[in-house]
Amino acid sequence: MRILSRKNHARRNSVSEEEKDGHDDVDFGTAPAATSPSAARPAAAPPEATVTDTPEKTAPAPPVEDELARVEEEAAAEQSEIRMKASDLLAPTKRDLESHIKPITPEVPTDRADVISFANQKGGVAKTTSTLNMAVALAELGNRVLCIDLDPQGNLTMSQGIDPDKVEFSMYDVLVNDMPISEVISHREIDIAVASLDLAGAEIAMSTKIGRERSLEKALKEVDNDYDYICIDTPPSLGLLTINALTASNKVIIPVQCEYLSMRGLVQLQSTLKMIQENLNPNVQIEGILPTMFDSRTLHAREAVSILEENFGDLVFKSRIRKAVKFAEAPVRGASVLKYDPESRAASYYRNLAKEVLKDGSS
Ligand SMILES: Nc1ncnc2c1ncn2[C@@H]1O[C@H](COP(=O)(O)OP(=O)(O)OP(=O)(O)O)[C@@H](O)[C@H]1O
Ligand SMILES: [Mg+2]
Repeated sequence: MRILSRKNHARRNSVSEEEKDGHDDVDFGTAPAATSPSAARPAAAPPEATVTDTPEKTAPAPPVEDELARVEEEAAAEQSEIRMKASDLLAPTKRDLESHIKPITPEVPTDRADVISFANQKGGVAKTTSTLNMAVALAELGNRVLCIDLDPQGNLTMSQGIDPDKVEFSMYDVLVNDMPISEVISHREIDIAVASLDLAGAEIAMSTKIGRERSLEKALKEVDNDYDYICIDTPPSLGLLTINALTASNKVIIPVQCEYLSMRGLVQLQSTLKMIQENLNPNVQIEGILPTMFDSRTLHAREAVSILEENFGDLVFKSRIRKAVKFAEAPVRGASVLKYDPESRAASYYRNLAKEVLKDGSS
C-alpha cells in the first residue's frame, strides 16, 4: 500500500473536475477506467475518437493488462517524485522555499550618515581637537554634521562653550536610560550631543544592560537620516564607551601624536578593533591614521611619521596636523579653529583632512 504525504493528499483534493474524470481510478488505485462511474457517463467519449478519423489508421489497442501496468508505473513514478522524504519532515527543502524567497534587489544608496569615531586609548593625542575641527570642516563643505561627546571629561562639550557640569541631560541618559539622542543635542557652531561628568559612571551603569555594547548604535537610528556625518569623540581608554562608539561606526580615524611612544598603543587598538569587527560590527574600518602635533623641524617627528608610513602604508593620511598654538586657544573661546581664525594655517590643516576623507569616500 502506498502512503501519500499530506501535501500529496491536498494536491489530490485540489485537482480539477476534468482531471478527476480522467484519472480518479489511477490515482487512488480503485477500479479500472471501464468500470469507473465517470466512464459510464454518456458524454465522455473515448479520447481515441477525437484523435483519429478512420479505424484503419488507429493503432491496435494495447491489451488491458498492459495499459493498466503502464498507468500504474506512471502513477508510481509521480508519487515517488512527490512523496515526502525524511528531510522534508525535518526542515523545508530549498524547493519548498523557492516560492517564498524574495528576489534580490540591487543595493540602493541610502541617506544614512557616515559614522566616524576618533579613537586612541592614549591621552592627549588630539582626538577632541580633531573631532571638532574635522566636523566643522565637513560642515563648511556643505555637509550636515553631528558631533557626539562620549568622553566624561566633556572637553568637546566645553569646546563649544557648554559647561558639562550644568547640562541637564547628556549622553549618560541616552546610553543608560535610553533617552532619545535628539533631546541632548545642542545647536552651536555645530550640532553636538553633549557629555556631562556623570558619563564617567555610564560604563558601570551599563554593565548589566543587555546589548550594552549597542546602546549608541541603537540611539543613532533616530538621527542617522538627518546627518551626512556623525563624528564621535571617545575617551582615552578602550572601555565600554569606546566599544559603543566603534560598534556604532563604519569608520575610525586614529589620531597619533608624532612621537615614538605614541605609536606603541596602536597594536592594542588594532586588536580591539579586530575583536569588534569579529563580534559586534563587521563594517567598521580604519579610515586613516592621522599624524598630529607634527613639527617638521624636529628629526624625531619626521622619523615618527616614517615609522608610521612603513608600518601602515596607505592607511596614513597624507594630511599632516602641524603644531600650532591656535589649537589650544580656540577652545577657550568655545569655538573650532576654523571659526576662531578662519584664515589661519591651523584651520587649513583640517580643511585638507576633510577633503581627503571626502575624496576617499567618493572613490
Ligand atoms: N596640532 C596641535 N598643535 C598644538 N596643540 C595641539 C594640537 N592639537 C591639539 N593640541 C592641544 O593638545 C591638547 C590635547 O588635545 P586634545 O584634547 O584634542 O587631545 P585628546 O586626545 O582628546 O585628549 P584626551 O585623551 O585627554 O581626551 C589640548 O590642549 C589641545 O589644545
Ligand atoms: Mg579628548
